[in-house]
Amino acid sequence: MELTRRQLGTLVGAALLTPYLPARPASAATAWQLMWAPEASSAGLGAFETIEDDRADSHPAGQPHIFAEGNNFRFNMHTVDRDSMTDRQRQEVTGTRNPSGYLQWLKGETWRVTYSMFIPSSLKATTTFTHISQTKMPGTGTLPITVTSLRRVDGVQTIEHKIFEPDILVGRTNLEPLQNKWIDAEYEIKIGDGGAGSVRWVLRDGATTLVDATKTGDTFLGDRVRPKWGIYRSLGDTSGSLQNCYMLLTNMRAYKQVAAVATRLEAENATISQGVVESNHAGFSGTGFVNTDNAAGCYVQWTHTASAAGPATLTIRYANGTTADRPMDITVNGVVVASGLSFGGTGAWTTWASKSVNATLVAGANTVRVTGATANGCPNLDYLEVLV
Ligand code: GCU
Ligand code: CA
Repeated sequence: MELTRRQLGTLVGAALLTPYLPARPASAATAWQLMWAPEASSAGLGAFETIEDDRADSHPAGQPHIFAEGNNFRFNMHTVDRDSMTDRQRQEVTGTRNPSGYLQWLKGETWRVTYSMFIPSSLKATTTFTHISQTKMPGTGTLPITVTSLRRVDGVQTIEHKIFEPDILVGRTNLEPLQNKWIDAEYEIKIGDGGAGSVRWVLRDGATTLVDATKTGDTFLGDRVRPKWGIYRSLGDTSGSLQNCYMLLTNMRAYKQVAAVATRLEAENATISQGVVESNHAGFSGTGFVNTDNAAGCYVQWTHTASAAGPATLTIRYANGTTADRPMDITVNGVVVASGLSFGGTGAWTTWASKSVNATLVAGANTVRVTGATANGCPNLDYLEVLV
């Protein structure tokens, strides 16, 4: 199978049945590190590794076909445009480039790309291939790894995502309701051979999620994986759908999955209002814990310095030796992220438990405050752990 994928230079989609493959389980101790966030207005086409703008020089009057227009990347396709393989058309960009160089997506890594895209009604689904995004191994003569395509299925225009070989459909939805407006795409690729690879494809129209599907499949050929965007389509369409058209992309982001970093901040080192540090109930971390007064409004406040803005999981370790709940309000930088969050009895003051909430941190100093919401005050507090 792999020899075929490496050697064939033409697109030959095998019409195999799609096997049932379970979704990849979410991994808890990982985080997404932002690696690429080009603005078309400032980065221009420097956002990409290579630009394939009319590479056969078939239509000089139409050049450039690919350019920054305001803060969008624009891809123009004219019916007269021809790729070096003259049965098809291609206006594409490849790769993800930062000022310091292009990013390498390697085997064993997981990458996520998000962007907004505008598909006008002139960019139609076809009976053959119209790819608007691909992943490939760099170099010539290899087949795609994954493709986002505009395909006519039983006469209906659809947008779909596939693992190219052996033709695994990740997801598909009707295209026409999504034309002439901005829609949001999210694409995740776990790069691996055979069952070690997987793809998640999400398509949203505003707040409505149209597709959110994950499929296991081979996502590695050799060397590395490189994304492409643009219009790459066959002239073999039989539905009369080939027109002068364009596509816009903006808000392009690439994230690499990295091991999450946990920072533990002991309560005994935090700012305490109406409470004392004690150590008479075993099982705590550090040198002690905070015993707040039995009073509403008592609080413990930590400061966490984040290296970058972004999502975080905040975990509070506590003990509550009573049978009554000790709800607390959790604020981050003064904004309530959880109101009256339950901290129920743990069975004993020496039995410690953890409770987590999600929050968004700013780069630099963040204050996290937990405040007793009832006259019983806070449970005993051991630490705050920040996972990013
Ligand atoms: C007991 C216990 C303290 C706890 C307190 C409370 O006094 O020893 O650790 O803080 O109860 O009810 O808050
Ligand atoms: Ca107390």
